[in-house]
Amino acid sequence: MNQPVSRASVHAFYADAILRGRNTAENLQAATSERFNTLLESIGDGTPRTALDLGYGAGTYTIALARAGFRVVAVDQIPSNSLLQRIDDGSDWAHRIEARECLAEHFAFDENFGVVVAKDVLHYLARRDVESLLTSAIAHARGANYHYLEVFTGITRRSADGRLLRIEGEADYSPDAFRQVIERIYDGWDLTVLLSEHAEQDSRTGRNCFEATRATVIATNRTA
Ligand SMILES: C[S@@+](CC[C@H](N)C(=O)[O-])C[C@H]1O[C@@H](n2cnc3c(N)ncnc32)[C@H](O)[C@@H]1O
Repeated sequence: MNQPVSRASVHAFYADAILRGRNTAENLQAATSERFNTLLESIGDGTPRTALDLGYGAGTYTIALARAGFRVVAVDQIPSNSLLQRIDDGSDWAHRIEARECLAEHFAFDENFGVVVAKDVLHYLARRDVESLLTSAIAHARGANYHYLEVFTGITRRSADGRLLRIEGEADYSPDAFRQVIERIYDGWDLTVLLSEHAEQDSRTGRNCFEATRATVIATNRTA
């Protein structure tokens, strides 16, 4: 295996793609998933109207939450101006969004979020950071809280010339290892863990550049 791709180059890739509104092989501009939409529609009055979106990217989930009436703290390593540009100030939901430029693993929980979203971001973190972040989110949960996570596991990445690539410090969970971590950390919560195969193609070569098992976790706090 070659030298790992640095975290700094991952940071630069997203900062550029999102600022320019470029769509990438992973479809950064995609709409929110049906699973997420169904979850959002099912949330009742017992859930605090506060949400956290970790690794918000183009901001699609943040905006959906704000439109649904949540005050949203949106965290990403990229400069916040790309999200602010996407928000229409004239809308009646824009004022609910607070964008923070911060690493997800440095985010300090200090409130009870009714909804926590982390989609396609946690695989970039080190395992200990994923686990301490989720543990801390759970420690602050009071009432009918929902966590919606989509995490890539069992990842194979290839460069355009077919070399295997990995990213410095990434969690690199197998699907089973990730499921076990989730079941341990979300002890006492209602849990759904769905696994699906995922592939992305390099538009230049037509070959797969990314293959993984996507783990979708929907966790509901039972102590509500
Ligand atoms: C694949 S995009 C996902 C964006 C969005 N959640 C979605 O699904 O549409 C990954 C995002 O995670 C961010 N990211 C990667 N590592 C991060 C970290 N350690 N802390 C905060 N953000 C990170 C990137 O800047 C990028 O915006």
